[in-house]
Amino acid sequence: MMQRYIVFFVSLLLLVSTTFFYIAQSDDTPATQPSSDIAGSKSCRECHEDFYTLWAPSHHGLAMQPYTDEYAQKNLTGQKSFIEIQKIRYKAEVGSGQGWVIEKTDGEEKKLKIVHVLGGKNVYYFLTPIDRGRLQTLPVAYDVNKKEWFDTAASGMRHAADEPVHWTESPYTFNTACYSCHVSQLSTNYNLDDHTYHTVWAEPGINCETCHGPAQEHVELFKSIAPGEIPSDLRIIETGDKFTPKQNDAVCAPCHAKMQPITTSFMPGDRFFDHYNLTTLEHSDFYPDGRDLGENYTFTLWRMNPCVKAGEMQCIHCHTSSGRYRFHGENANNACMPCHEERVTNSVEHTRHPKAAKATDVSRVICR
Ligand code: HEC
Ligand code: HEC
Ligand code: HEC
Ligand code: HEC
Ligand code: HEC
Ligand code: HEC
Repeated sequence: MMQRYIVFFVSLLLLVSTTFFYIAQSDDTPATQPSSDIAGSKSCRECHEDFYTLWAPSHHGLAMQPYTDEYAQKNLTGQKSFIEIQKIRYKAEVGSGQGWVIEKTDGEEKKLKIVHVLGGKNVYYFLTPIDRGRLQTLPVAYDVNKKEWFDTAASGMRHAADEPVHWTESPYTFNTACYSCHVSQLSTNYNLDDHTYHTVWAEPGINCETCHGPAQEHVELFKSIAPGEIPSDLRIIETGDKFTPKQNDAVCAPCHAKMQPITTSFMPGDRFFDHYNLTTLEHSDFYPDGRDLGENYTFTLWRMNPCVKAGEMQCIHCHTSSGRYRFHGENANNACMPCHEERVTNSVEHTRHPKAAKATDVSRVICR
């Protein structure tokens, strides 16, 4: 527990010590605010319609979204009974015109408004504004597969000896604990004098410019030249073929790693380790045998993989930039192509039980 607070405090110091593009908002509710060199994903649509329509409904595009009646009707079912957490009872009410969590203590009843929604693959977490400009993760969350509500903190416990963290504590404060992983270009804007946050971000979700860099100049350039004309400098960061596999992975890793940020200035193309400290296998978020416990933050184990160590494998070999898997169904073995062509084309021999295989077959390798 202590360790979590130290991590939190160190990241907080780092975040406040950096200058951001944004102007702080005077009201208490964190808001969306564009900066002058960030063009915004909508502005890409007119020229990159195909990318935009793949990205918008993906888990990247929807990593955070505003809570609305329309969202609730489509994705949630009502909470049947109160959930009791440390003697306080909670119930989400998500019918039309509602959108809050009731907090019931002995004599009092409070309505905690739901303003933002995170996740959606397996679970949804919800944010509510509390004091000092903080957005806090609500104590009840929604299981997409079981279609039921559950105790957020109890589900986050890793080991029997852990104690659940109270929902109002710092590990559940969006402004600092969710970094910039679910929204784009976040600035905490912490005011040291009165300990308030005036947090802003450019867009909810992982926007185009998270991976391609600020693109206002690129948009202006292409709006000012004749259609069909392609200048040599596109005024944008081109990921993919122009990057090494390590550089491409470093674009994904800031969010897909268990880590502590040591700067807030990472740009696509930079080295991961110049900006982040990777959490290693001794941490309680890993099983003793090294598997991820809880979230699939992948990157620590990824670096131990023989294909990656050999230097050619990268996330986008198997995933599109919107996070889709490229090799479903009949294509499954192509995930190992072209690098292991010899084994893929001889997959029957390669996967045959050692005792059944012919001793002369050179294509069969026992997986270690
Ligand atoms: C006015 C039209 C226009 C707008 C708006 C626009 N782009 Fe482009 N973009 C282009 C053209 C044209 C190219 C060159 C395509 C090519 O190389 O074939 C390009 C190229 C790119 C490339 C490089 C592709 C490569 O070959 O690697 C990226 C990345 C990119 N745009 C991202 C964006 C993003 C992100 C936005 C929104 C913030 C955006 N673009 C907005 C017209 C536009
Ligand atoms: C700024 C943070 C961020 C970056 C950068 C990022 N991701 Fe993600 N990614 C997320 C978050 C957050 C989710 C989960 C969103 C949710 O469930 O709402 C996610 C989800 C995914 C998923 C699961 C999607 C699904 O449909 O199952 C894959 C796969 C993925 N990302 C791959 C990548 C790859 C590959 C890259 C690099 C090209 C990348 N991500 C870069 C934050 C990021
Ligand atoms: C280091 C980046 C990072 C931070 C910090 C982070 N997340 Fe995530 N989050 C991710 C990624 C990546 C995924 C997708 C992981 C996967 O699909 O296995 C994800 C997934 C989720 C999901 C969906 C899980 C599912 O299986 O459906 C929720 C909900 C969520 N995060 C909420 C939060 C909240 C709330 C915070 C802050 C208290 C937070 N996250 C902090 C990167 C992050
Ligand atoms: C998570 C990181 C990420 C996000 C978010 C993202 N991209 Fe990309 N983009 C990439 C990578 C990596 C490539 C390299 C090609 C590939 O393997 O998919 C790429 C390629 C491209 C290309 C060139 C494709 C080609 O092959 O010519 C364009 C154009 C582009 N992206 C535009 C966009 C736009 C517009 C958005 C937002 C709607 C967007 N990207 C969001 C990572 C991202
Ligand atoms: C050799 C292929 C391959 C590579 C390379 C790869 N993945 Fe995946 N990944 C998969 C497969 C297969 C799935 C499951 C896909 C599915 O069920 O749709 C998956 C799923 C995921 C998920 C969703 C997990 C969940 O619980 O739903 C995330 C997040 C993810 N990958 C991130 C990454 C990141 C980040 C990288 C690079 C560091 C990466 N992957 C590299 C094959 C790959
Ligand atoms: C981008 C290239 C690339 C892809 C794609 C790739 N690998 Fe690898 N892999 C390598 C390289 C290079 C090595 C190290 C040299 C070797 O042993 O062949 C390696 C090593 C391995 C090893 C260790 C072999 C040994 O004898 O120690 C296994 C097992 C393996 N890969 C399985 C897979 C599987 C399964 C897939 C598909 C899901 C896959 N790889 C996809 C490049 C790749």
